[in-house]
Amino acid sequence: MRDIHNIVILTGAGLSAESGIATFRGPGGLWEGHRVEDVCTPQALARNPELVHRFYDARRAKLAEVEPNAAHLALARLDTEWPGELLIVTQNVDDLHERAGAERLIHMHGELKSALCAQCGDRRPWEGSLPPESLCAACGAAALRPDIVFFGEMPYRMEAIERALARADLFVSIGTSGAVYPAAGFVQTARYCGARTLELNLEPSEGSFLFGESRMGPAGELVPTWVDEVLAARLV
Ligand code: OAD
Repeated sequence: MRDIHNIVILTGAGLSAESGIATFRGPGGLWEGHRVEDVCTPQALARNPELVHRFYDARRAKLAEVEPNAAHLALARLDTEWPGELLIVTQNVDDLHERAGAERLIHMHGELKSALCAQCGDRRPWEGSLPPESLCAACGAAALRPDIVFFGEMPYRMEAIERALARADLFVSIGTSGAVYPAAGFVQTARYCGARTLELNLEPSEGSFLFGESRMGPAGELVPTWVDEVLAARLV
């Protein structure tokens, strides 16, 4: 078995659940009776911009009430202390990884605290609510939308992610149901390229059978233990 130098970590909503942010699927996963698939689409934005903006305004406001949990802090420690290559790819649009101190981080599904101009593509930090009539600071168009990758849109930084997966010796998936592609397929890419694969999740995900090892339990317990193990082994 090859030594571990390069680590890629995929995180999902389960990582932030213990901070008090509801996951998308499962109990509490509905918002005002809407499924996420009904709100997070370009079609929904065109049909009912007020609803889509209100959905994301509520999620952005929630960030002020939550803190990183033990799992975010452990991953930030790993990022700081791991001497080899490391990339955290998060599907989460909250800012808890960076508030915990993680730096080698890609938000593949966008960020709540960012606004995207649908007219000119400008992306810039955003705080507070984002009314549909807000003007873009770059082009002046009333075309700002939440900087979130909707269903049917291409996630951010896919080339960098694919490159990291191809070089990974260890791929770890944490707190994600494996229901949404392309993230759900990362385990197969990493395995194909020779990486060991590990899943840390509350319950078996849709793709559990694809992982070499699965550990079930809350991320706040599993992740710090796993980070201690990896740093103790120091296989770089
Ligand atoms: P989901 O809500 O689909 O899945 C969350 C997973 O976390 C489930 O498998 C839970 O069992 C697990 N889980 C819950 N609490 C946990 C805990 N305390 N510790 C560990 N695991 C726990 O969320 P995602 O897989 O992240 O996309 O969803 C993927 C994408 O679907 C999201 O990024 C979002 C959504 O549409 C966009 O917003 C573009």
